[in-house]
Amino acid sequence: SRVLKPVASVAVQNGAKTFSTSGQNNYKVVVAGAAGGIGQPLALLLKQNPLVSRLACYDIAPVTPGVAADLSHMDTPAKVTGHKGPEELASAIENADVVVIPAGVPRKPGMTRDDLFNTNASIVRDLAQCVASKAPKAMLAIITNPVNSMVPIASEVLKKAGVYDPKRVFGVTTLDVVRAAAFIGEINGVDPRSVTIPVIGGHSGVTIIPLLSQSQPAVKLSDQGKIEELTKRIQEAGTEVVKAKAGGGSATLSMAYAGARLTNALLRGLNGESNVVECAYVKSDLTEAAYFANPVLLGKNGLEKNLGYGKLNAYEQQLLKEAMPELLKNIKTGEDFAKK
Ligand code: NAD
Ligand code: LMR
Repeated sequence: SRVLKPVASVAVQNGAKTFSTSGQNNYKVVVAGAAGGIGQPLALLLKQNPLVSRLACYDIAPVTPGVAADLSHMDTPAKVTGHKGPEELASAIENADVVVIPAGVPRKPGMTRDDLFNTNASIVRDLAQCVASKAPKAMLAIITNPVNSMVPIASEVLKKAGVYDPKRVFGVTTLDVVRAAAFIGEINGVDPRSVTIPVIGGHSGVTIIPLLSQSQPAVKLSDQGKIEELTKRIQEAGTEVVKAKAGGGSATLSMAYAGARLTNALLRGLNGESNVVECAYVKSDLTEAAYFANPVLLGKNGLEKNLGYGKLNAYEQQLLKEAMPELLKNIKTGEDFAKK
């Protein structure tokens, strides 16, 4: 039988380019909603992450223990556990370092993300309540839509429980960044992974604000009309997938990729790596919105430093102005629900 090697040597064996030997390389990650369209490929990616030593898969679906059994046969070190239904939630959450939440219903054609609020709000509230009591120091990464409202809900729940740390609650907007880089890579004819592009604001329609003027390398588009077209495509990319899936749900695979990327960044920060930067939707005092997405520096305590969003051109200032009423409304909806 095979003897598992220590995590660090496995990382080298797998060809991982960067990892820290100073940190513990030994984190427990929970995926809440692990049996879903996002949850399964997200768990698949996290099972391969050398920083993850324990991967708890939680869902209410009957298939959950099977998803965990399936993953556990992969020859990577992370130990996988399956937890089905509310009575097994506490055991999933306890001792977690990072809890990623893709639990909840996705859109169908014709729906907005806000149409998901009524179903998803109580799901996120209940999960946050368990995090408050069983792993109050865990980082929370919320994928569930509408993200703009779910982050305020989780934050209010943690506040009520007296354990809120604004540096540890993240709305996952990574997919907007991934999409922007993919589209710019295509336009410029370069590897999209070489593109750095901040996307700020929130995660729905007009609240998604790609800062194309800050793209590195610069976007090779000649006129403002094309810039506006690309901006709209990034804002509506989720709807593009919803329509293409024709009733079969929304983005799952690219979201799993993006969720794994943000989770990895949180773990790298926890593990003491420097210069770990991602965009995320966090508690903020940069604008009049109490939560706002932009690049943040991640570290041992979560959000180490809010890096702001730099200089906006006139078009981007206009986009921000248009986003603000919607973002404020989404945040209020979440806060009102949690305060009920
Ligand atoms: P899905 O229906 O395929 O999976 C959702 C899973 O959540 C299911 O397995 C379901 O059993 C589970 N679930 C439901 N209630 C639960 C509860 N109380 N506790 C634990 N698990 C529960 O949906 P999906 O495609 O994986 O999408 C999930 C969510 O992610 C949706 O709200 C979707 O809108 C959102 N999403 C967000 C982004 C983003 O960029 N942030 C991108 C894509 C999708
Ligand atoms: C996305 O951007 O793909 C997600 O928010 C899912 C959706 O409903 O569009």
